[in-house]
Amino acid sequence: MATATDDLAMPELRFRPMAADDVSAVIALEHAVYPFPWSEQIFRDCLRVGYDCWVLDADGSVAGYGIMSMGAGECHILNLCIGPAWRRRGIGRRMLFMLLTRARRAGMQHAFLEVRPSNSGAMALYEEAGFERIGLRRGYYQAAAGREDAIVYRRALDFLPGD
Ligand SMILES: CC(C)(COP(=O)(O)OP(=O)(O)OC[C@H]1O[C@@H](n2cnc3c(N)ncnc32)[C@H](O)[C@@H]1OP(=O)(O)O)[C@@H](O)C(=O)NCCC(=O)NCCS
Repeated sequence: MATATDDLAMPELRFRPMAADDVSAVIALEHAVYPFPWSEQIFRDCLRVGYDCWVLDADGSVAGYGIMSMGAGECHILNLCIGPAWRRRGIGRRMLFMLLTRARRAGMQHAFLEVRPSNSGAMALYEEAGFERIGLRRGYYQAAAGREDAIVYRRALDFLPGD
């Protein structure tokens, strides 16, 4: 049975739109997670141009984020990151499907994203979520030893969980 102490220890998690004030916390997480992080300017540009930018808020702290562009019937998941302390609780999946649901409501028919072949956790998440590999971009990413390819994934938005 949960005690009052357990209840207090459980933070309130919610997704909310990213604000300009979140960018410093987002950048801190980005740098902690990725060996080749996006710059602060990229995040500010994503907000400025109106991309769909969300944070996972844990009691007022940024614990993750997701960024998606939409246009011409397609959405592109540009960044999806859950802080290490919050992983393997289904939150990345929830963030992903929240973005895909928003894209479909906005009239998008397909979703695309790229992943490093070395990122087996992300590949497992996307394949479990119904994404299919459709191609490879050679030398797409910076890497410790030169460049790394990107696997391109696509998913039709005709069926989403909860339909
Ligand atoms: C990839 C990432 C977003 C997954 O977030 P998460 O909240 O841990 O994912 P979930 O708990 O929703 O996982 C859902 C399913 O995806 C798969 N999965 C997720 N992470 C996995 C891992 N590290 N290894 C194997 N499978 C994994 C599993 O099937 C998992 O279901 P299960 O836990 O019931 O087995 C997170 O690890 C992350 O932020 N990584 C660093 C940033 C990154 O690489 N982003 C993707 C860039 S393309």
